[in-house]
Amino acid sequence: HDSYDKDKKGPVMPSIGLGTWKSKPGEVGGAVKAAIRAGYKHIDCAEGYGNEAEVGQALTEVLKELGMKREDVFVTSKLWCNSHAREDVLAACQKTLKNLQLEYLDLYLIHHPCTFANGMRFPTTPEDRKNVLGYNKKRLSETWKGMEELVHKGLCKAIGVSNLTSAKIAALLETAKIVPGTNQVELHPFLPQPGLKKFCEEKGIIITAYSSLGSPDRPGSGEADPVLMDEPLVKEIAAKRNCSPAQVLLAWGVNYGCPVLPKSVNEGRIKQNLETYNVKLEQEDMTALANIGKKFRYLMMNLFYIERMTPEKYWDGEQ
Ligand code: A2P
Repeated sequence: HDSYDKDKKGPVMPSIGLGTWKSKPGEVGGAVKAAIRAGYKHIDCAEGYGNEAEVGQALTEVLKELGMKREDVFVTSKLWCNSHAREDVLAACQKTLKNLQLEYLDLYLIHHPCTFANGMRFPTTPEDRKNVLGYNKKRLSETWKGMEELVHKGLCKAIGVSNLTSAKIAALLETAKIVPGTNQVELHPFLPQPGLKKFCEEKGIIITAYSSLGSPDRPGSGEADPVLMDEPLVKEIAAKRNCSPAQVLLAWGVNYGCPVLPKSVNEGRIKQNLETYNVKLEQEDMTALANIGKKFRYLMMNLFYIERMTPEKYWDGEQ
């Protein structure tokens, strides 16, 4: 279940990883330790989550405790939007490596196609919004050159992207020397993205799924938003297969061919999510989920909602 690199040219990404977005300082370290003790071999991090130093400390401690080696885990991080200039990429990666207490990353992703002015972490004020520069094809191609340099320097085993649509990937591939290993995007039965998945697969790019559980703890969630884990069909399949709704959703992702990154800071749920490896969905379950009849994108990126980067421009209308 672990090999998504069929030619074994790069590092192998385990198909269930611990997500760390929204895991609060003071909680994320415990989550990382619980995950590694439970048998996780894959941790998904990002500078933009603001918690990498705690992740790194916990990882160092737990690997030592269990007598495990650095190579026993697959660690991903992501380049934040304020470091897209080609000459800023190296320093950003080095900062992440220092925070994570690592010599290299297994995978480093461009977190978003949207660029912020250097120095800005997040747009909160109207003044900040002027520093959201948005997406520019040429600029992102330059960012990618900076990413490729990290591979040549040995700081990253593999590189990839996140939150890119087919159109933005096609634009990147015009000048890329290294094809992105993955495109990490929102993906679940309400947003299966068949077009993007097919396009990426044809180019040899694996889709990695985020928000597999519907991210009920996401910022900006609306009262009227459908709750993925409460969806009757998901619950029905869970009852039939003797597992939890969360496990149905994670097994759906893995069966669909996409590694999943469930976030949890609760030891029991961390274990339960990894135990999805024991859940077997039948073809009839996959077919039923393919016909769930609801479409919903949880992360519209309306946090960046400004003229330069509206949800329409962000997602290019792709479903
Ligand atoms: P918690 O961290 O308290 O476990 P996503 O990965 O889609 O962003 O979803 C993360 C959310 O789902 C968090 O609120 C997390 O809460 C919750 N969650 C994670 N695993 C499970 C599970 N097995 N059952 C129910 N809720 C879960």
